[in-house]
Amino acid sequence: MAAHDAVEVISVKRDKAELSDSQIDWVIDAYTRGEVADEQMSALAMAILLNGMNRREIATWTAAMIASGERMDFSSLSRPTADKHSTGGVGDKITLPLAPLVAACGVAVPQLSGRGLGHTGGTLDKLESIPGWRAALSNDEMFAQLESVGAVICAAGDGLAPADKLLYALRDVTGTVEAIPLIASSIMSKKIAEGTGALVLDVKVGSGAFMKDLDRARELASTMVELGKGAGVQTVALLTDMATPLGLTAGNAIEVAESVEVLAGGGPADVVELTVALATEMLAGAGVTDVDPAEVLASGRAMDSWKSMIRAQGGDPEAELPTARESHVVTAPASGVLTRLDAMAVGLAAWRLGAGRARKEDPVQAGAGVVWHARPGDTVREGEALFTLLTDEPDRFERALASLEGGYDVADGATYESTALILDRIS
Ligand code: URA
Repeated sequence: MAAHDAVEVISVKRDKAELSDSQIDWVIDAYTRGEVADEQMSALAMAILLNGMNRREIATWTAAMIASGERMDFSSLSRPTADKHSTGGVGDKITLPLAPLVAACGVAVPQLSGRGLGHTGGTLDKLESIPGWRAALSNDEMFAQLESVGAVICAAGDGLAPADKLLYALRDVTGTVEAIPLIASSIMSKKIAEGTGALVLDVKVGSGAFMKDLDRARELASTMVELGKGAGVQTVALLTDMATPLGLTAGNAIEVAESVEVLAGGGPADVVELTVALATEMLAGAGVTDVDPAEVLASGRAMDSWKSMIRAQGGDPEAELPTARESHVVTAPASGVLTRLDAMAVGLAAWRLGAGRARKEDPVQAGAGVVWHARPGDTVREGEALFTLLTDEPDRFERALASLEGGYDVADGATYESTALILDRIS
């Protein structure tokens, strides 16, 4: 690999020029080896945030991050593979019913997930509220479970895209998370290295999402779709609404319970709609078009896959889920129609109640979170329960209540125009 100099590479991007493939390969490799210092990579990340990268630069950057670690290969499995990645939202528990549903339809789901940071929850945190369930699997265990059960949700090992692990932690503390080239390459390096054959991206748009507006969400989605296809992964993206939180719960154990309701054939309509839409895309990406995921969900076969998936990782799917020690009910201030429920307000409240963490090493409370008893469009009566806040530590209520303030509107006699959940599809 040709050697470069960190200041030379930083200066190119500072001066709004294009980085060569050789400069990108060198800087990612040298940063992973510790030869490029954090302050130098911070300067480069900020130059990228301010001046951007073109599609060639982003593809080379992504390939260099993949090459920093191992690449998994599931091509010897007896069935095709498909995965889903969500850019993160409030009440977004879709992976929980989706992975067993797709497995029950005949496609294997190798889902390497993360823990939550900030106001969006992490899939592993939710699953860890199930007694006995463990997130850490070896590659051999993952492979065996994919063959036997068809679905695995587990923690990504340290071997996958280690350059991204370093860079993401650095971006988090240098105000450079928001750069689209860095978000796209971060997500796609991990998903391509994970070895899935097909990938569906759920790019969230709205107050509770990374991307607050549709144009930026479209740009992120099309960048990621191009990266995936360029690496031989069948990739599509759905742009979905995150102005309103999904379902009726945001937390850990309470989101598991809602997911189990969906697997039992019930659950909130929006969670069911998105689960089935993403399953349909994952199956199509894997070449399976003759199975209707809505029927499989109704048949109970997805529930069987869920129980097998949880048991295979030491969990007891029949065990009682943990509950919070304390609760506080917020009642409707007036009678009328709930015309707005802000995803960010709900996400922050759940986080402040202890469902999420402020620093990577913080624990989360399994029982904490927010339940909302109405969705936009529903009629509520003054004095009826609108939210139930849950936590083990009652001194958390005050700050959670403050984040809900101004986060919803109830209007008498208002008509509510429902908005679409799926806003666009990019392939
Ligand atoms: N998720 C990631 O994995 N990386 C980002 O940069 C943003 C969200």
